[in-house]
Amino acid sequence: MPHITIKPFNTSMLKKELYRETKVLFKAIDLSSSDELIAVEVKSSRFLLHLKKAKESWLLKYDKVTRPLDVNLIKKAIDDILNGLNLDILNSNITIHHNRAKIANRYEKSIEDFIDIEFPFKDVSIEVGFGSGKHILYQAISNPNELFIGIEIHTPSAKKLLRQIELKGLNNIWVVNYDARLLLEMIPSNSLHKIFVHFPVPWDKKPQRRVISSSFLDESMRALKKGGRLELRTDSSNYFWYSLNTFLDKKSTAIDIRKNISLAVTSKYEARWLKEEKDIYDVSVTSLNKSKDRDIKFDFDFNGVKYSDFILEKISKKPILFNDFFIHFERFYRIDINTILIKVAFGSFNRPEQKYIYIGSRDSYYFGLNPIKSNTNYKAHLKIKEYLNV
Ligand SMILES: C[S@@+](CC[C@H](N)C(=O)[O-])C[C@H]1O[C@@H](n2cnc3c(N)ncnc32)[C@H](O)[C@@H]1O
Repeated sequence: MPHITIKPFNTSMLKKELYRETKVLFKAIDLSSSDELIAVEVKSSRFLLHLKKAKESWLLKYDKVTRPLDVNLIKKAIDDILNGLNLDILNSNITIHHNRAKIANRYEKSIEDFIDIEFPFKDVSIEVGFGSGKHILYQAISNPNELFIGIEIHTPSAKKLLRQIELKGLNNIWVVNYDARLLLEMIPSNSLHKIFVHFPVPWDKKPQRRVISSSFLDESMRALKKGGRLELRTDSSNYFWYSLNTFLDKKSTAIDIRKNISLAVTSKYEARWLKEEKDIYDVSVTSLNKSKDRDIKFDFDFNGVKYSDFILEKISKKPILFNDFFIHFERFYRIDINTILIKVAFGSFNRPEQKYIYIGSRDSYYFGLNPIKSNTNYKAHLKIKEYLNV
């Protein structure tokens, strides 16, 4: 990931203006560390850069929460600012590859693209956590009339698949670099043929991070067509029993279980487990009913929320827990005398979101993209609004 170390400089030199292709929108000082965030817009993508300050040298790098998948945008922003201010570079790992941005733009989809999505193929399947991409590539090549959406949280794997799609000249894979637990809520009801979850991380010590959960299953059954299937493949007997119990907890389910059955393609992980002679479990759950359309008329506005000095005084930095969601105002940043930025984690316990909220004297909004339109996020958003409306 691009980062650069520079000699400390006077940050008031950095103005809200255009530096080549990078527009600086605002700067925000971390009230607990004096690090700074720089909000930029490059090719209509908005994100933050993080200026991490130490005594002798400062690190200029991307911010994890708002990072765009196209790493060239981050490099571009860093490069434009360095040049614009003529800063002293101590160490840099930046080289710009112009062809990569093109690949990412064609097949990469963002969460926002799914708001009013209309699929260009009749049959659509999803693979959650595709890793090396071997299985999704096999499916896409074998079923050229079906769209395969790969959702992968790990950015290097997402990029690797984008390159493979380009190399193999495929037009029926979309790549989403996001948490599958959140993306599924954006998929229209009754639209999927299959959902593949192959060798998910078992998370035995942190079960709340597992992909499979009761609400993930509800969303999957809603998104699948009547007769569509969720296919779990795992080497972990713990995960197998956990998932089976989660599936069986539902009122009516059609479950099919198999053990040690080979598929046409062996993934990288599977090859490792086969070498160790581990058992492999397949559990397939069929959606039995036509589901209701999802309700997505959520408005994540901050109407009525304006900056006041009381916000910083009043808000708790400890997590605030409710029955089925939480809110955690994690960090506070000052933009100017009447404007702050707050980093907040919120939403359901096993599918939290992280966002920055810009709070000004005239308007307030989520910086970058709005949260996923889920019921839980909306409930959390209304509470956040209540807390900020002091
Ligand atoms: C053990 S690997 C299996 C990869 C691949 N399915 C295979 O069979 O080789 C699990 C993959 O799931 C991804 N992953 C974990 N949690 C995820 C989530 N919440 N959303 C999307 N991908 C996730 C990880 O980044 C990793 O690539």
